[in-house]
Amino acid sequence: MLNIGIVGCGKIAQVRHIPEYMDNKNCKVVGFYDRTFSRAEEMVQKYGGIAYRSYEELLDNKDIDAVSVCVANHLHAEITIAALRSGKHVLCEKPMATTIEDCELMVKVAEETGKKLLIGHNQLLTPAHKKAKELIDNDIIGDILTFKTTFGHSGPETWSINPGANTWFFDKDAAVMGVMGDLGVHKTDLIRFLTGETIVETTARLVTLDKKDPEGRLVGVDDNAFCIYKLGNNIMGTMTASWTYYGPEDNSTILYGTKGIMRIYDDPDYSIKILLHNGEKIYYEIESIQTNVKQSKSGVIDLFIESIIEDKETELSGKNILGSMRAIFASIESSNKGKTVAIKQD
Ligand SMILES: NC(=O)c1ccc[n+]([C@@H]2O[C@H](COP(=O)([O-])OP(=O)(O)OC[C@H]3O[C@@H](n4cnc5c(N)ncnc54)[C@H](O)[C@@H]3O)[C@@H](O)[C@H]2O)c1
Repeated sequence: MLNIGIVGCGKIAQVRHIPEYMDNKNCKVVGFYDRTFSRAEEMVQKYGGIAYRSYEELLDNKDIDAVSVCVANHLHAEITIAALRSGKHVLCEKPMATTIEDCELMVKVAEETGKKLLIGHNQLLTPAHKKAKELIDNDIIGDILTFKTTFGHSGPETWSINPGANTWFFDKDAAVMGVMGDLGVHKTDLIRFLTGETIVETTARLVTLDKKDPEGRLVGVDDNAFCIYKLGNNIMGTMTASWTYYGPEDNSTILYGTKGIMRIYDDPDYSIKILLHNGEKIYYEIESIQTNVKQSKSGVIDLFIESIIEDKETELSGKNILGSMRAIFASIESSNKGKTVAIKQD
């Protein structure tokens, strides 16, 4: 039985991490830390265990085998590295970290300590994305030529455990990145996963169009990101992320191949629609994706526990996700400099 500690007891910890650990018969949550101590105490009242006054104190508990890092972005690297060095396996929420150097250091420390490091890229695990990957690998739409992938909703200010324009998601110091770090990381990694190719070049614009702080000024982080990605095998396409889709969430990905088109999460009735050049149509009804208002089991926690118990590598390992993080930071550079940026991948 693995003992789990939760660092950061906000929304994602409460709707995903804690319930999914509680549901897994191979682990139990035994410790909670949050900057707001009463929030950690609330979790103890609900689930049992100990509330800690600092994350260091939680990490000092030798009986804790693994932790989830669910705090604001700027602390992901610091807490993950401290946890790995204290002998814990780590499931860190996205974005992995706020600089590429920190991402690389996290992977290095995981290797040095021999502990698992997974990043919460749940989109790779949704049933339709897994099925789409299998179909693409079986050549159903031929060679992929282009794509458009997007993730947009009306913003994090209604999601956060502390809702409103004061949310840390809008605070440059705590979030560092805006929608690119919040939603762009998901689709950037998804396109790498689906195509099996790395992103080698980006031309991007990250902008703030509408989100305002309590004083009515535009926030200091991006609320829309537009990227043209070039991948290996000469695949080119667009990745867009938005906090200003003021209507239903858009989580769609469309891939255009030499034999036809695949539309994923683009139709409420069919999670995958394949429209082939020869006129054939193949539709799959597969469980719809989690949205901010409709959460379903992500599978991330089960995979984390399985990877520890079976000592196995997974698609969510920090090492795998590094390639996508390089594309994220290159896109920020591209936007700042107003030019296309080549991405050096290993
Ligand atoms: N995988 C996903 O799809 C997904 C979805 C939502 C959020 N996230 C990520 O999860 C992390 C947490 O986001 P959330 O949605 O739970 O936000 P939230 O605002 O609901 O909660 C954040 C929690 O962290 C605590 N916190 C903030 N700054 C802290 C600090 N300096 N020290 C200690 N605790 C601190 C807050 O007290 C709060 O309890 C973020 O990195 C976010 O990007 C991932």
